[in-house]
Amino acid sequence: MDTAQETDAYPFPLTCPFTQPPELARRRNEAPVAPVTLPGGARAWLVTRFDDVRTVLTDERFSRSPVRQNAVREQRRAGPAPGPGQFDFGAQLADPAAHARWRSRLGSVLTPQHAESLRPRIRQTVDEALDEMAARPDRTAEFVSDFAYRIPVQVLAGLFDLTPQLRDRLQDWATRLRGAAPSTAAFGEAMRSLYGVAAELVARERAHPGPGVIGLLLSADREGTETVTDEELVSTVFLLATAGYESTAVQFANGMLALFQHPAELERLRSGSVSMAAAVEEILRYAQAGTGFAGTTYTTEEVRLGEVTLPPGATVLISLDSAGRDERRTDRPEVFDPSHGAPHHHLAFGAGGHFCLGASVARVELQEGFTRLLARFPQLRPSGDPWKTEFTRNLFHHYPRELRVEW
Ligand code: HEM
Repeated sequence: MDTAQETDAYPFPLTCPFTQPPELARRRNEAPVAPVTLPGGARAWLVTRFDDVRTVLTDERFSRSPVRQNAVREQRRAGPAPGPGQFDFGAQLADPAAHARWRSRLGSVLTPQHAESLRPRIRQTVDEALDEMAARPDRTAEFVSDFAYRIPVQVLAGLFDLTPQLRDRLQDWATRLRGAAPSTAAFGEAMRSLYGVAAELVARERAHPGPGVIGLLLSADREGTETVTDEELVSTVFLLATAGYESTAVQFANGMLALFQHPAELERLRSGSVSMAAAVEEILRYAQAGTGFAGTTYTTEEVRLGEVTLPPGATVLISLDSAGRDERRTDRPEVFDPSHGAPHHHLAFGAGGHFCLGASVARVELQEGFTRLLARFPQLRPSGDPWKTEFTRNLFHHYPRELRVEW
C-alpha cells in the first residue's frame, strides 16, 4: 500500500444510519479505492463507487477463498475437529467449483417463482404478528422485537416447511442468537441448537422429501445424476438461516425508521399512490442495513481498479451503502424517494457469483410486511423521538436497536 496516506479507522463513525459519514462521499469523489485500518490494526483497501464495487463483486480476480480458508483455519486452531455443535461452517463451499455447484443446485430451487409461491404464506405470517400487536390494550409495541425480528424466522420456518416442533426450535435458535453477542460461548450454543434443527430436518426430508427447500433439493437430486450429501444439506440450512434472518430483520427496522423520518412519503405509500415494490427498492438503497463487509475479497493477482493498482493478495472491502449513494448512479442520492426505487440503484443484495440467493424471498417479505403493517395500523407512529434510540453499528450492519411505536 505504497500510495496509502489515508488509512482511516474503518468503519467510520455514524450517528444516524441514513446520514452517511462524510468520509464516504469524500472518498467517492477523491479516493474511490483507498486504504483503511480495521479494528485490530489490519489494513485493507476500501472501494466506494457503485461501478467499482460491482467490479469487485463480479471480477474473478477478486477471490473469497482465502477469507473462508482463513476462517476455517482459525476455527480449527480454536478447538477440536468439527462435529455436532462445532459445525465447519461453509468449509465445503470454500472451493469456488464446489460453491458454484452448490449455488446452481440451490438456485434451481430458490427461484423468483418459488418466492412468489411463498407470498400467501408470508402474508399469513405477517398477519399473525400483526394480530398479536393489535391485541395489545396499550396500543404500543417495540417494532424491532415484535415485528422486524419476528417475521424472518417464521418465513425461514415456512421455507424449510418445518413441523411446529422444529419451528419452535428454530425460534429458540433465533432468540439465542440475538442475545448471544458478544459472548462466543453463547454464540456457540445458538449454533449448536441450529445444528440440531438442521440435522433433524435433513433426516426427515431424506426419508420423505416434502415441499420445503431441502425436500425440493432432494427431489431434484433424485431426478439428476449428482448425489447431494447430508453435510451439504445441513450446510444449506445453516447458510439460509444465518444469511436470511438478521439481514431481513434489520432491513425492516431501518425501513420503518426511514418511513417515519419521511412522513409525506409514508402517507403516499399508505394512500397507494406509490408502489410498494418500488418503495422496498428505495428502502434497500437509502436505508440499507448491510455494509458489505461479508463480501471481503483478496486479489489473486495485480489488478488495476480505477486509478489504483492493487497488489496480489490485497484485502479489498466494498461499501455497499456508499455504492447506493453514488451520485454517478442515482440523481440526488441523499433524497429518499420511494416512487423512484429500482433494483439497479443499489447493490444491497450484492452481485455476481455470490449474489443473494434469498433476494426474491426478502423482497416478498419486505413488500408484504410493510403493505400489511401500514394497512392494519393506519395511525402507526413512533412513540417519542425515534432518533433518541440506540443504534447498533458493527462491521456488518447498522440499525436501531429499538423502535417504540404506537397507534
Ligand atoms: C433484506 C434482506 C437481505 C439482504 C440485504 C441480503 C444481502 C445479501 C448480500 C449482500 C449477499 C452477498 C454477500 C457476499 O457477496 O458474500 C447475500 C448472500 C446470501 N444471501 Fe442474502 N440478503 C438478504 C436476505 C436473505 C434471505 C431471506 C436469504 C435466505 C432465504 C438469504 C440468503 C443468502 C445466501 C444463501 C447468500 C450466499 C450466496 C453465496 O455466497 O453464493 N439472504 N445476501
